[in-house]
Amino acid sequence: MNDKHPIYLDNAATSWPKPPGVQEAMERAMREAAANPGRGSHDMAVKASRVLFEGRKTLAKLFRIANPNDIAFTLNTTHALNQAIVGLLKPGDHVVTTALEHNSVRRPLEALKRRLGIDITYVPVDAAGVLSLNAVKQAIRPSTRLIAISHSSNLLGTIAPVGEIGEIAKAAGVPLLVDAAQSAGVLEIDVGAMNIDLLAFPGHKGLMGPQGTGGLYIRPDLDLEPLMHGGTGSRSESPEQPSARPDRYEAGTPNTVGIAGLTEGVRFVLGETVSRIHARELELTRELMAGLLEFPGIRILGPGIEQERTAIVSFTMEGIDPSEMAFILDRQFGIAVRAGFHCTPLGHESMGTTETGAVRASPGYYTAHSDIVSMLNAVREIGDTLRA
Ligand code: ALA
Repeated sequence: MNDKHPIYLDNAATSWPKPPGVQEAMERAMREAAANPGRGSHDMAVKASRVLFEGRKTLAKLFRIANPNDIAFTLNTTHALNQAIVGLLKPGDHVVTTALEHNSVRRPLEALKRRLGIDITYVPVDAAGVLSLNAVKQAIRPSTRLIAISHSSNLLGTIAPVGEIGEIAKAAGVPLLVDAAQSAGVLEIDVGAMNIDLLAFPGHKGLMGPQGTGGLYIRPDLDLEPLMHGGTGSRSESPEQPSARPDRYEAGTPNTVGIAGLTEGVRFVLGETVSRIHARELELTRELMAGLLEFPGIRILGPGIEQERTAIVSFTMEGIDPSEMAFILDRQFGIAVRAGFHCTPLGHESMGTTETGAVRASPGYYTAHSDIVSMLNAVREIGDTLRA
């Protein structure tokens, strides 16, 4: 077992390490602003409100959102997606989504199918995980109330043409929900230009913040039924959840300390720029893919090396179960990857890997070229041992 820090190739799950300012901002918030925002007029409560305001403002800049109050903080992307899906859909509604979705989209949809009788179309993808725009267009019906799509697949790293899908959605008058779990901070997102009505994003991945942070952008004229009702510190005399944003979607004490960290993470992303982050991650990803493809018995899922993708490389190796490979990588080589089904059984079905799952290595902005070399050496050694 490697007793140094791990070679961390699990950034698609949670990015690590974080920029140094993130931890400092959280420590500062814990010392100076860890009271309840929006619920008191004392100094610490006001400072806490400021932390949230700064966070919203910084995120609004990143996603080109005109009014920061159209962003509701959530615990993670799953929470944001549930707020969007459960808050929007009514009995009889139809939803167009894809065969690459994470369970965080699929499960709330399937729950509403059981509970409310909504109808769902899962638009298939081709062998490389590519979605046909025409198929999305053709799946729309008069009863379609939502198009829900992941910007980038957490299994394949494929990038969906969100701008074009936004045009289709706009023309059909159907709200577009984008799951930005794998794209926030690493792909350009402009909610206006891309016609995104609902954007669910995590704080703890590409935005470099801590776990327990995330958010949902909700188009100003789109009202959702709140997922949670409760205290907001505003209109306390009313039994109804306030209609003013962001309070409408933020019942209960928020994660002020986490949001202080997230804000610093987003500032880091804005400083480095999304395009530079993506370019670096793509370079590391291609280096990893090229190396893996040299070895016998390796299959990399999804698009070819020449295609654009986010920093996700899911692969299988003949003769070894992916979970066993991940276990050996961790125990013998100190390399952190994620194996199994990656919460996307539909994605594995599309790739024909339902029986086996895959090993997923996901480099991040802080991954070093030497980490990729270590990963390749480890996979080579595991393959050589299998064949010996
Ligand atoms: N959704 C995260 C992943 O794909 C946790 O690993």
